[in-house]
Amino acid sequence: GKSGYEHFMLKEIHEQPRALRQCLRGRVDELAGTVDIGDLGDLSPTGVQFVACGTSYHAALHGAQLFREAGIPAQAFLASEYATATPPIGDALVVGVTQSGETADTLSALRAARRRGARTLAVTNVVGSTAARECDHALYIRAGPEIGVAATKTFASQLTALNLLALGTSTTGDARQVISALRDLPGHVQEILDESAAQEVAELYQAANAYFFIGRGYQEPVALEGALKMKEITYKHAEGFAAGELKHGPLALVTENTPVFAIVTGDDERARKTIGNVKEVEARDAPVVAITDGQSDVERYADHVLEIPETHPRAAAVLANTHLQLVSYHTAALLGRNIDKPRNLAKSVTVE
Ligand code: M6R
Repeated sequence: GKSGYEHFMLKEIHEQPRALRQCLRGRVDELAGTVDIGDLGDLSPTGVQFVACGTSYHAALHGAQLFREAGIPAQAFLASEYATATPPIGDALVVGVTQSGETADTLSALRAARRRGARTLAVTNVVGSTAARECDHALYIRAGPEIGVAATKTFASQLTALNLLALGTSTTGDARQVISALRDLPGHVQEILDESAAQEVAELYQAANAYFFIGRGYQEPVALEGALKMKEITYKHAEGFAAGELKHGPLALVTENTPVFAIVTGDDERARKTIGNVKEVEARDAPVVAITDGQSDVERYADHVLEIPETHPRAAAVLANTHLQLVSYHTAALLGRNIDKPRNLAKSVTVE
């Protein structure tokens, strides 16, 4: 059942701290600063191609960034577009990110990769799923069953599992910082669940014409995911962009009726550039909601702030996403939408 929550989606958003603890359990040694993902640790890929759809594709974008940061060439493909990809070469690994393990487009891309001689890995929530059975390897995200059509806790768990995969198969300078940020993640998500101002933001902007989401680096996939969640459960127009793309077209759509959600973490060059983009929309009178750890001065240009604790930018992605899940959820609830079963959508898409 829904254990007292009005919708499975809200229940599952609240299950995230537990899901993340399960994902991490037995896989990180904080003292040693190491990750143990069993045999997968020996994969040492020379390159990684990710294939996925929808929310899982947004997780794949995060995963590809992780590997590139570790110096391993990596790219994320929409599974339905994988036919146009360069074939994997050498000791490449093709990773299918699929919560259900049954998405037709993703299965078909993984099969194509196998035919091309690549090793394949399924990052999935479902033990015994087709993806888990057909791939050479499986990494389970351990989120527990997700009933709501909108992917929520499974996205958080995918991001976390992909961090474990990257840490376990490659070397990054800041492994210790990432591991300690991952350890703090369940508690940090809980803080957001307890304190988020998302409902007030939803109340203020439920009548908006459209919603925009912007972010850079690890926050770009979060911007895309924020928009996908908003459109699928509220039926309102929403778009997510890399912050830098705004001025190359979408800015023409920005008005005082289009709230812009800007994810800004840290206080570096990237943050400063995104703040520059925030100023551009503020000048067009768009309401600005900053999702921020408070390190930069983005709050000066924002109408509302959704706070996240200071942490590593990779973990910040999960935290920012938690606020955005709640904004979409509350907006959909205010509009009386069928949150757990949005029109025209299915939990797992088994046709190409
Ligand atoms: O089961 P999968 O992760 O392969 O599903 C892929 C997409 O259909 C899925 O992520 C979809 O975009 C979400 N349910 C949207 O919330």
